[in-house]
Amino acid sequence: MTQDELKALVGQAALQYVTPGDIVGVGTGSTVNKFIDALAGMKEQIAGAVSSSEASTARLKALGIPVFEANAVGELSVYIDGADEIDGQGHMVKGGGAALTREKIVAAQSRRFVCIADDSKLVKVLGRFPLPVEVIPMATARLVRQFAQMGATAQVRMKDGAPLVTDNGQHILDVTGLQITDPLAFESQVNQWPGVVTVGVFAHQKASVCLLGTPDGVKTLTF
Ligand code: 5RP
Repeated sequence: MTQDELKALVGQAALQYVTPGDIVGVGTGSTVNKFIDALAGMKEQIAGAVSSSEASTARLKALGIPVFEANAVGELSVYIDGADEIDGQGHMVKGGGAALTREKIVAAQSRRFVCIADDSKLVKVLGRFPLPVEVIPMATARLVRQFAQMGATAQVRMKDGAPLVTDNGQHILDVTGLQITDPLAFESQVNQWPGVVTVGVFAHQKASVCLLGTPDGVKTLTF
């Protein structure tokens, strides 16, 4: 099975966590796009979605799924999103699609985080994938030095020859050379550095369930 087919498999499997009448929290990325396409098949049964990015909002609306502002609704029963890495405890690295801040906001608003991923995303220790960190542009150079003091290398994510600008008008640092052995402590530490908007470690907002696409089918991990 190709990676694309594995993503479609878990996108479809995630529908079992959607209850009729729900407003569904929706993440961002190529795996979530498969979920959105599958969700369109039951759009008459749900109230709508809260989206974590302009890209997902556009896809949801194009398929006729109503999108609500996060502030307009209360707690959501489920948030469904992909990950760049997930460990055996449900801690994740996210933000490969630069949507980490809104993803963390919608995840925090939801009772349950269902992660959908192909099996290439499962790791023993977080840190193989360059860690995305959304930052206020004026703090970039100092934050690069602060990561260097940890022995890591941070680089500004570029797009079309200029720093990528997120949906929130900020920049992304991608940090390599990390071994995140204590994700909860790491997330707390980096999140309080001045100029950091959001660090892409999701330990405080970890997954409750992971639907992992494998060549043998969908494997369900619960945390
Ligand atoms: C976007 C994310 C995505 O969930 C993550 O990058 C995984 O994406 P994909 O499903 O395309 O592999 O965090 O900010």
